[in-house]
Amino acid sequence: MSDDSLTIVDNRTGREYTVPITDGTIHATDLRQIAVEEGDGGLMSYDPAFLNTANCRSAITYIDGDAGILRYRGYPIEQLAEEATFLETAYLLLEGELPSSEQLRSWEDEVRSHTYVHMNVTRFLEGFRYDAHPMGMLLGAVGALSTFYPDAKNISDPVNRRLQRVRLLAKMPTIAAFVFRHSRGLPYVLPRNDLDYIGNYVNMTFEIGGKHEPNPVLQRSLEILLILHADHEQNCSTSAVRGVGSSHVDPFSAVSAGIAALYGPLHGGANEAVLRMLDEIGDVSHVPQFIEGVKAGHGRLMGFGHRVYKSYDPRAKLIKRVADDVFEQTGLNPKLEIALELERIALEDEYFVSRKLYPNVDFYSGLIYQAMGYPTDYFTVLFALGRLPGWIAQWDEMLTDPEQKIARPRQVYTGPEVRDFVPIAGRG
Ligand code: CMC
Repeated sequence: MSDDSLTIVDNRTGREYTVPITDGTIHATDLRQIAVEEGDGGLMSYDPAFLNTANCRSAITYIDGDAGILRYRGYPIEQLAEEATFLETAYLLLEGELPSSEQLRSWEDEVRSHTYVHMNVTRFLEGFRYDAHPMGMLLGAVGALSTFYPDAKNISDPVNRRLQRVRLLAKMPTIAAFVFRHSRGLPYVLPRNDLDYIGNYVNMTFEIGGKHEPNPVLQRSLEILLILHADHEQNCSTSAVRGVGSSHVDPFSAVSAGIAALYGPLHGGANEAVLRMLDEIGDVSHVPQFIEGVKAGHGRLMGFGHRVYKSYDPRAKLIKRVADDVFEQTGLNPKLEIALELERIALEDEYFVSRKLYPNVDFYSGLIYQAMGYPTDYFTVLFALGRLPGWIAQWDEMLTDPEQKIARPRQVYTGPEVRDFVPIAGRG
C-alpha cells in the first residue's frame, strides 16, 4: 500500500477501501466505490459553497491565506505592483511568462488595435435608464459583444481564443468608459490609440471638450489597483466564468457571467458597500456603536473578512500605500478617518480577532476611487477591469485542461417521495 493513500473503513458494511492521495487531495469520484448495496450510487462528498473542494488544477495564482501571500505565476504581488504595468501583468497571467520588451511592445500594439467597439453598442447603452447601475450596463454590454463576434463560438481553436481574449482586454475599458459617460449624460469619448492602456481609459472617462490633463500619480495608482485585482484564483466570479465557460459558450458570455457574480456585495460589490457603510456611520464618534451593531448581528463590517485570507489581505496592505499617494494629490477623503477607526477597533476586538477578520481588498479601494472622481456605484466596474485578465486566463486554462468537463455538481435530494398528481378540484 502506497504511503500516499487514505484507508477508509465504512462502518455501515465493515468494508475497507484505499484511495490514492495526490497533491494533498483525494478524488471525490474515488468515493463512489464505497457503497452499501449495488446501485445506490456510492458515497458523495457534501461541500456547500466549496469550502474544501478543489475544482481544478491551476498554474496561474498562488495564495497562502494564513501567511498573507499572493503570487501571479510565481511572482509576488508586491513586486508586480511596484514594477509592472497592467498589460505586462495581463500578459504574464495569460501567457505564463513575463514578456520581453519586444513581446510587450507587440502585445500593447495588438491590444491597442482592438479598442474600438461597434457603434451599435452605444445605441443599446442609450436604452438604459439614466440611473441604471453601471455593473448592470457593463454585464449586459459585454454579454452582447458575443452577438458582434459570432466567430468567438469557435472555442476549440487556440488562435481564435487568443483573438477573443485580446478583444475583451481591448474593448472592456471602452465599454466601461461609455457606461461612465452614460451615467453622467456625457457624450462618449472614443479611444485614443496614442495613449497607453490606462491613459486611454482615464481619458475616455474624464475628457471634457476634447481636453483632459492627465495626473501621472493618479494614473499609476489606478494601474496598481488594477494589477492588485488581476487574479485571485478560484473566487466566486472566476468560478462563474469557468463554470459557464465549461458549457463551451463564447468567452463574452462567460465573462458577462463573471461580471454578474462580481456585482454582488459579498464579492466585488463590497467596495461600493463599504462607501455606503462609511456614509451611514457618518462620524468617527459613531464607530463603536456601529461595531457593537455588527457584533450583535445587524449586518456585516463590509470590506472585512475573506474566505481564504485568515491574516491581513496583502492587497489591502498595498492599497493603503496607494491611498497615501492618492490623498497627497487630491486632499484627504474625510471618510478615511472613519475607516481607520473602524480598522483600529476591529483589529483589537475579540469578535473580529477570534474569527480572523481583517480588512480585505475592498476596504480602502472605494475611498481611493472616490478621490479619483469615480461615483460610488461605479467602483465595481473598476474591479471588473482589473479582474478581466484573470477571468480569461482561467477560462483558457479550463478549456485546455483534459481533466475538465462541463461543470455539473451533485445534490442531496431532500424533497418529497414520489406521489400522485392531485387534480385542482381535489386539493382542498
Ligand atoms: N463582518 C462581521 N462578521 C463577519 C464578517 C464581516 N465582514 N465576515 C465574516 N463574519 C463572521 C460571520 O458572521 C461568521 O461568524 P459566526 O462563525 O459567528 O457565524 C464568521 O465570521 C465566518 O464567516 P463566514 O460567512 O462563514 O465566512 P465566509 O468565508 O463564508 O465569508 C466573506 C467570506 C468575504 C463573504 C465575508 O467575510 C463577508 O461577508 N465579508 C464582507 C463582504 C466583503 O467585504 N466582501 C469582499 C471580499 S474580498 C474581495 C472579493 O472577493 O471581492
